[in-house]
Amino acid sequence: MITLVENGSKHLRKAVLTTPASVLAAFGKEINYNDIEEGLYLFEPEDQKRIIAGIKQKQFHFWNSIETVEYYRDIHWQLPGMEEHAKKTLESLAIQNSDLVVDLGCGWGRIAEQLLSFKLNFQYIGIDFSDEMLKMARKNIQELGNGKIAFQNHDLAQGMPLADNVANKILANWGIVYLPQDELKPTLAEVHRVLKPGGIFVCAAIVEGASFVLLALRCLPAFISSKKRKIIKKGMKFGARVKKLFPLYTRDQLELMIGEAGQLEIIDMYPTIWGRSVTIVARKPA
Ligand SMILES: C[S@@+](CC[C@H](N)C(=O)[O-])C[C@H]1O[C@@H](n2cnc3c(N)ncnc32)[C@H](O)[C@@H]1O
Repeated sequence: MITLVENGSKHLRKAVLTTPASVLAAFGKEINYNDIEEGLYLFEPEDQKRIIAGIKQKQFHFWNSIETVEYYRDIHWQLPGMEEHAKKTLESLAIQNSDLVVDLGCGWGRIAEQLLSFKLNFQYIGIDFSDEMLKMARKNIQELGNGKIAFQNHDLAQGMPLADNVANKILANWGIVYLPQDELKPTLAEVHRVLKPGGIFVCAAIVEGASFVLLALRCLPAFISSKKRKIIKKGMKFGARVKKLFPLYTRDQLELMIGEAGQLEIIDMYPTIWGRSVTIVARKPA
């Protein structure tokens, strides 16, 4: 049973959702992921399974839609603060010759493209479960690639398709934090298994509790340009949708999970995009 309170400008509607079908119909619209997690225990185990399966299906469709891929390709990386975020992420990754870099939830290949610009002799494996994202990634990297880039279609909830102690660097640039806790914790244990001793994990996540006021103030100068204004508006609309469909963690929760479930030693942690995102840099003990 989930209580839905819709507080529109003109009316207040209260509804109690008691069937999996009604919960799923409201999911992503009137109610968000965290609401469902809170009320899920009130359902019978069979109904819980149905709700979880329905949520996963909707989430997968979201990542696998052309609309989402085009948003990431055309809008996301142009938002204010993104350039600075990417610069810091790549600095934290500190890629070196002969590194094996694994990119979890690699998307349409933006990071691979940036790494290639370093002209170093590394190997890169991008993992994602969205066919459409990977189609775009392969198209995007084809002109640039030279054999050192590979993409794998794989659901990270099923573990990582790699041997123990092989990766020098693992990156998850907003790539794994949309997993629910019961999938995120084993994924972090997988990060530990696949990293070489002394290897580095860089994990970026949009976090709960970030200051929207500060963000709005920082974005104000960009509003002068109508092109930027359109991009920011689309970014905000997309962000609101993501917030409805996926779990949103706090910085403390992530720090705890990376340290405990991942058994990794946190060596740095910093905000980017004026506090909307946090990057945690961790090391597998040597
Ligand atoms: C927010 S996008 C980030 C994309 C890319 N890292 C970037 O910075 O542009 C999240 C990506 O994670 C992928 N993803 C989400 N859940 C996944 C899962 N269970 N297994 C594999 N990939 C997943 C999505 O398909 C999507 O491409």
